[in-house]
Amino acid sequence: MPAHLIDGKAIATRLIEHITAAVSDLRAAHDLQPGLAVVLVGDDPASQVYVRNKARQTAAAGMRSFEHVLPASTTQAQLLAVVRQLNRDPGVHGILVQLPLPSHLAEDEVIEAIDPAKDVDGFHPINVGRLSIGAPALVPCTPYGCSLLLRSVQPDPAGQHAVIVGRSNIVGKPMAQLLLALNCTVTIAHSRTRDLPALARSADILVAAVGRPEMVRGDWIKPGACVIDVGINRVPAAEPGKTRLVGDVAFAEAAEVAGAITPVPGGVGPMTIACLLRNTVIAACRVRGIGLPVDF
Ligand code: GUN
Repeated sequence: MPAHLIDGKAIATRLIEHITAAVSDLRAAHDLQPGLAVVLVGDDPASQVYVRNKARQTAAAGMRSFEHVLPASTTQAQLLAVVRQLNRDPGVHGILVQLPLPSHLAEDEVIEAIDPAKDVDGFHPINVGRLSIGAPALVPCTPYGCSLLLRSVQPDPAGQHAVIVGRSNIVGKPMAQLLLALNCTVTIAHSRTRDLPALARSADILVAAVGRPEMVRGDWIKPGACVIDVGINRVPAAEPGKTRLVGDVAFAEAAEVAGAITPVPGGVGPMTIACLLRNTVIAACRVRGIGLPVDF
């Protein structure tokens, strides 16, 4: 039986509606308009598209959006000065520095310069540590979005074996913490893992976050498993000169075996920005000592 399709687009739309209503309430009841600042260094076309999209959706949800587009020649000191100025700005509740940065800039130092209370990416070591000990933290958006998609089909995945393919700081490692917090038994697989297909076949929940087009094949999947595909890879299409997006999972094969699966596009992608807006509202409420809206 073909898998249930987890509709990330619809789930993200509902979440954004919820966030938009919460923002409207915060403005009316507390005169608080959450603000998100996005910093882009250089002219990478994909990053430009992401940043424009973030700014548009932030404003559409009723929040303030601040865009700082800096030239590729920006120095480390100049970038740190922008981050510190945003740290001091009371109208800015969330700061996101778009990654990757040009190679002459030190990403770690920039991330650590962001006020942890405004770190809506959840990349600052304080938030990474807080997540790992189960303390209130700003949680990285993509893995949090994945956990919402999983819970849309399995409200309580306790006891299930979750295998995460990929050990990045942005997705793999925080995903492991979130699944652990949901009482899953978690394995992180990576490029040095032995017999990855066999390990993947032992997964009740399989999260693919490696950035390799269609690497996870249908015969890697345990019948009935929940498959979350984080990959967004642009590959040549059948038609000459055209391209198409595929995930890290060979979708058609996997959908024959899995119980539930996220598509690409329309799965994890739309959730990331919704979770970014959510984190900005959380950061704004925390700084003003306002309790979070119910169900947030
Ligand atoms: N580049 C790709 N994904 C992300 C993300 O989640 N946050 C930031 N800051 N940059 C990214």
